[in-house]
Amino acid sequence: MHQSKKQTITSILNSKGKRKLSMITAYDALFSNLFDGNVDFILVGDSLNMSFGGNSDTLGITMDNMIYHTKAVCNGAKNTFIICDMPFGSYIDEDTAFKNAMKVYQETSADAVKIEGGVSKAHIVKHLTQNSIAVVGHIGLMPQSVRSEGGYKVKGKDDLNIQELIADAKAIEAAGAFCIVVEGVKSEAAKLITEAVNVPVIGIGAGVDVDGQVLVWSDMLGFFDEFKPKFVRKYLDGASLVRQSIQQYVEDVSNKHFPSNEEIY
Ligand code: KIV
Repeated sequence: MHQSKKQTITSILNSKGKRKLSMITAYDALFSNLFDGNVDFILVGDSLNMSFGGNSDTLGITMDNMIYHTKAVCNGAKNTFIICDMPFGSYIDEDTAFKNAMKVYQETSADAVKIEGGVSKAHIVKHLTQNSIAVVGHIGLMPQSVRSEGGYKVKGKDDLNIQELIADAKAIEAAGAFCIVVEGVKSEAAKLITEAVNVPVIGIGAGVDVDGQVLVWSDMLGFFDEFKPKFVRKYLDGASLVRQSIQQYVEDVSNKHFPSNEEIY
């Protein structure tokens, strides 16, 4: 579906139970422009630190890095609702969170910020939303906890954890989050979380019974081919296309087939 009209918080909230929402990450103006008007939201994810920075986790990215990339994404996508991920350590307390989220609003045209955490971060979500910052929550597998948890662990495997996840979702909904990303959660658990709240739940590795999906663009377009998580569907073999094109270019240069007469001044 071509979604040319920019979503608003009201239209996002109203979509619950009526239609599925599509979110994709972007980190620059080039690709955000290709996605613009075709998805409901673009997330400037801190996954940027891995897929573009070549690092093994998301923890090293800074607020200034996120702002630089969010500005670029906003420049490329004027017709899409844009969310800026708050990086690790940027929302440890209410004042720090507000100071950093305010910087996002003042220096970019992002529409909302995203923070990881449930019950334990509800006071931060509340402080931001009460001070006119729109917040997307993120619960389940939280990549910023990878070192403290000793790896990426799928959640929602037992009843106790499912109840904890539902409590997380309800706490951040009550704190004012207008949307919740649920990552790396058993699909039965994600379904229960989705039913427990009135705000849209966007899944990644969380099955089909959620209100929408998000994927990291370089995974779904096949530009990152070293590893493919189970939940990723590859819609394009970007890496092979790039390699073939580069080989062709090198061959054309060495054979003097490039540039041609039409490609010179
Ligand atoms: O950083 C990111 O790209 C994310 C998505 C995986 C939801 O948080």
